[in-house]
Amino acid sequence: MPIDLSPIDKAKFVAAKRAAQFVESGMKVGLGTGSTAAWLVKCLGEMVREEGLRIKGVPTSTRTSILAREVGIDVITLDEAKWLDLTIDGADEFDPQLNLIKGGGGAHLQEKIVATASDQMIVITDASKSVETLGAFPLPIEVIPFGWQTTKSIVEEALIGMDVLGRDVTLRMNGDAPFVTDEGNHILDLHLKRIGNPRQLSFVVNQIPGVVENGLFLDVCDAVVIGYGDGRVEVRDIHEGTITEDKFDFLGDDNIFGDIAD
Ligand code: 5RP
Repeated sequence: MPIDLSPIDKAKFVAAKRAAQFVESGMKVGLGTGSTAAWLVKCLGEMVREEGLRIKGVPTSTRTSILAREVGIDVITLDEAKWLDLTIDGADEFDPQLNLIKGGGGAHLQEKIVATASDQMIVITDASKSVETLGAFPLPIEVIPFGWQTTKSIVEEALIGMDVLGRDVTLRMNGDAPFVTDEGNHILDLHLKRIGNPRQLSFVVNQIPGVVENGLFLDVCDAVVIGYGDGRVEVRDIHEGTITEDKFDFLGDDNIFGDIAD
């Protein structure tokens, strides 16, 4: 392992490595987006190349699709797959019920479609994403470019009646221009600080014309794999109510510690 890998990156790597153990030959697997998911894609690529793992991967973004092909994973579209055995993805926050905020990387629309079309969703993360109540991380909502300023005003108005602590809404930027998603849309980030009623918020926001999808993943995640910088891994399974622990050493993994296209 390169010595310059930060504890956070080590944590993300071991979470990904542990989650890769849930993947079996013959599976159709949803591949998440972000720096943690990139580790997963690299781990699976190594298993394909060196252990003969046979999987079909459905990427949740162009970035992930490029990386998956690079590491040797057989990539198909969701329409080709129709239904998936398992999706493994990162998250920006998770609460004790394993409800999530996603979309920090701007891919939550495709991520939600893919996760919803899966028998199981496993989140891989470091411990910093654990919260008691969702909302410290700004909630992303994907909006179509047409009339986005009007959509923003209606979202702001809707927030007045919501159980939240902050109500600032900002357009996500990429340098001087609005950020554009894979679907050609923009992202509004809702700085809510605390979301008292995620179900109500998700429902209300998604009713607003121009809003395509919000980044709340409620009752979608089945298990969270939490990695730590010292190689420890914790798996929390929502259905079985179990917490299991493992420890990984980093020896022998040097070949997958190249730069990650993310
Ligand atoms: C992308 C996402 C990511 O999963 C989320 O932002 C976490 O990313 P990272 O693993 O880089 O912290 O939702 O839309």
